[in-house]
Amino acid sequence: MKKNIKKIFVLFFIVLVVMQFFSPELNNADFRDVANFEKETKPSKEVVAILKNNCYDCHSNKTEYPWYSKISPISLWMADHIEEGNEHFNLTEWNAYSDKKKDHKLDELIEEVEENKMPLKEYTWTHGSITEEEKEALINWAKKTRAIYKLN
Ligand code: HEC
Repeated sequence: MKKNIKKIFVLFFIVLVVMQFFSPELNNADFRDVANFEKETKPSKEVVAILKNNCYDCHSNKTEYPWYSKISPISLWMADHIEEGNEHFNLTEWNAYSDKKKDHKLDELIEEVEENKMPLKEYTWTHGSITEEEKEALINWAKKTRAIYKLN
């Protein structure tokens, strides 16, 4: 029995080591391109800081990777979140969205933030949660911004 446990540990260790050779593709463009999005939706400096600290890592073309993100399987797990996050809501691609889609995404944003679904819980373990004031600032900006697209 004891021998088996030892074998399992050795096997587990080998698997971990081998996994380090498989790293996912990184979401790391040369610079974070959210200029079009910020130009159009005009977030205040405060709101830009909230987006930068809590959202752009999974919703733009560039993630600021912490050191532990290089370790498999964390790297694979993170790549999954980033890919899925950008699939639903990619602020680098903002210009490609129709006005209707922009309005809808802002509506989703309000809902997700209100219900504490964004930023993802796993992300807040290491980056901290957003405060009630930050939530309010984000929601107010999103509500105001929706008016741009309603007028069209
Ligand atoms: C760790 C990665 C991660 C972070 C950080 C993150 N998101 Fe997301 N986001 C996702 C994933 C994954 C999805 C798609 C699955 C889902 O909706 O739960 C998503 C979906 C969304 C959607 C689209 C919902 C829809 O149905 O179209 C919005 C809007 C959104 N996030 C806003 C935000 C905002 C605002 C922040 C910052 C306050 C944020 N996210 C932070 C990963 C992330």
